[in-house]
Amino acid sequence: MKELFGGAAPYYARHRPGYGEAAIEHLAGAFGADSRVLDLGCGPGTIAIPLARRVRAVLAVDPAEEMLAEGRRLAAGVQPVDLAPREPAVTWLRGDSTTLRTLPPFDHVVMGRSFHWMDRAAVLAELDELLPPGGAVALLGPAGQPSEPWEQGEPWEPDVQPWQPVERRVCAHFGLDIDAAALSFRATGESHHAVLAASPFRRLESRTFRRRLIWDVDGLIGLQLSYSYSSPAALGDRLHAFVDALREALLTDNPTGQWEQNLATEVLIARRTGR
Ligand SMILES: C[S@@+](CC[C@H](N)C(=O)[O-])C[C@H]1O[C@@H](n2cnc3c(N)ncnc32)[C@H](O)[C@@H]1O
Repeated sequence: MKELFGGAAPYYARHRPGYGEAAIEHLAGAFGADSRVLDLGCGPGTIAIPLARRVRAVLAVDPAEEMLAEGRRLAAGVQPVDLAPREPAVTWLRGDSTTLRTLPPFDHVVMGRSFHWMDRAAVLAELDELLPPGGAVALLGPAGQPSEPWEQGEPWEPDVQPWQPVERRVCAHFGLDIDAAALSFRATGESHHAVLAASPFRRLESRTFRRRLIWDVDGLIGLQLSYSYSSPAALGDRLHAFVDALREALLTDNPTGQWEQNLATEVLIARRTGR
């Protein structure tokens, strides 16, 4: 298993926005309070940690040890809702989409911004064998980002944020490929919706949750360093030059130093038909 996010995990844990309470609540409602949930590609527990307060147990699996370490650190204070003595609500395990059969049993699966890293059709075929009847596959991610293979039934405004033209320009100057992450999407040209619709999990239910966030320049720089294509490891000894160039370009473009983001998260729940 290779480390994709070299040195990015602390920035990820600190600066990537979560999905918001309403989206997590909706997800937990779909799974049920007594369920055991696999969070595949859990990162630092963006979903696993808030979900663990609402379901029986979460198995948080990721190939990146640095992500799991951040997750364990952040989860240290999380207690189950009823405070009764029992197993820890989150179990952190190193693994990936090719090691599903080695995992303890689970009732549902969630993937937050991780499905595009995987052989999606193969994962769904394997989940069809592993999930019990009624088991759901849920995807969480940014609705309407051009670089992500998300798609909605109705026409939508692409979710382009005000700082992104500046970010793209600086990244291009440093030879960083901003679109490199959507490997599977680019290889097949298919959206997540299309891949699911061609799988056993073709009964889809989509909800979008919108929030407004305010960023400052340090937050945007931290966010940038959380991406695999511009992680500290990808930048190497150019890290400080990159941070300085990004800061200067952002503040030249917007001297107020404040950026507003309209964040749209899609929760896509996929179930088998007839079960
Ligand atoms: C963008 S992060 C998402 C983290 C978290 N789920 C979230 O919603 O913020 C993608 C995660 O997928 C993991 N990942 C990459 N390839 C994977 C694979 N084949 N199977 C499982 N996870 C994978 C990465 O290590 C990374 O932690």
